Amino acid sequence: MDTVVSGIRSTGNLHLGNYFGAVTNFLKMQNENNCFFFIADYHSLTTHPKPDDLHANIKQVLAEYLACGIDPETATVFIQSDVPEVTELYLLLNMNAYVGELERTTSFKEKIRKQPDNINAGLLTYPVLMAADIIIHRAHKVPVGKDQEQHLEMTRRFARRFNTLYGVDFFPEPDAYNFGKKLLKIPGLDGSGKMGKSEGNGIFLADTAQVIRKKVMKAVTDTGPQKPGEKPSEPVENLFTIMKVVSDPCTVKYFRDKHATCEIRYGDMKKQLAEDIIKFTEPIRERIAEILADKKYLAAVVSQGAEKARQSASRTIREVREIIGYRPF
Ligand code: TYM
Repeated sequence: MDTVVSGIRSTGNLHLGNYFGAVTNFLKMQNENNCFFFIADYHSLTTHPKPDDLHANIKQVLAEYLACGIDPETATVFIQSDVPEVTELYLLLNMNAYVGELERTTSFKEKIRKQPDNINAGLLTYPVLMAADIIIHRAHKVPVGKDQEQHLEMTRRFARRFNTLYGVDFFPEPDAYNFGKKLLKIPGLDGSGKMGKSEGNGIFLADTAQVIRKKVMKAVTDTGPQKPGEKPSEPVENLFTIMKVVSDPCTVKYFRDKHATCEIRYGDMKKQLAEDIIKFTEPIRERIAEILADKKYLAAVVSQGAEKARQSASRTIREVREIIGYRPF
């Protein structure tokens, strides 16, 4: 049985990228493995140091994950800040993480471009905290989207470095995982790049049917007329990528064929895509509302998750302290 860890920041609602990049894989794994799922609320402070309502954000993201089908009876579902052991491992791993390698991380370079007035040390050491999240449970697999691939490479490096430095075979080297083998990048509706929480290009699981229709109908497609034999442009290919995950294969084929023969009408394609997204998200949206209203249930999930996660984390920390040489007198 493998140990699996997955997480999400608490900075915004869940979108289709989160769902198809990470959650679907986690759902397939939760029954056969030792699975941990958590809300990364420490990480959220690297970009949102003073959220309007941190607690409400965490609650919303938790309810959304549970609504997707993550089962707290099978998986350990918890909040990162409920497990302080992770901060100790973060500190210890920081001693063997080098500023040069952290500065070269793509996500760090992106973030400092986006928030030049807040280049905090937490941003620099983000991959170290993420590695601590994963290896504190001695995980083997981490279901994530393509954007997290480099962080997973770094996690493996930190785990390997610890093992080599202390001459032990303690931490497994965890792999970024997708059942389809290739990690996914779900694009946004704005023509280029990935779907994100704050890029204004996403469809959220909590969006109403009306909002979804409006967003999809406004999605970028081609500017000029299509020429025979031409491959779909990036914005059009992006719509096909989203269609592939929410629509029936026959629907995708229908529009692919229409594109190949230059008969495609993007308005029709978008209408179909919007309806397929609505069909997919509607039951989840209803569940989110039900779960959010059930405060007792949420409180029980969180306290049970914290207890289970702390058990696993404190076992690791005890051994790590022993390995490094912190021993009781
Ligand atoms: P976050 O909150 O940005 O995203 C959560 C998960 O969703 C995936 N994802 C996507 N997948 C495909 N296409 C997209 N457009 C897309 N957008 C997001 C992400 O790859 C991720 O799997 N650093 C993490 C949170 C984290 C974590 C961890 C994850 C902290 N510690 C330990 C796993 C294990 C993050 O920012 O995810």
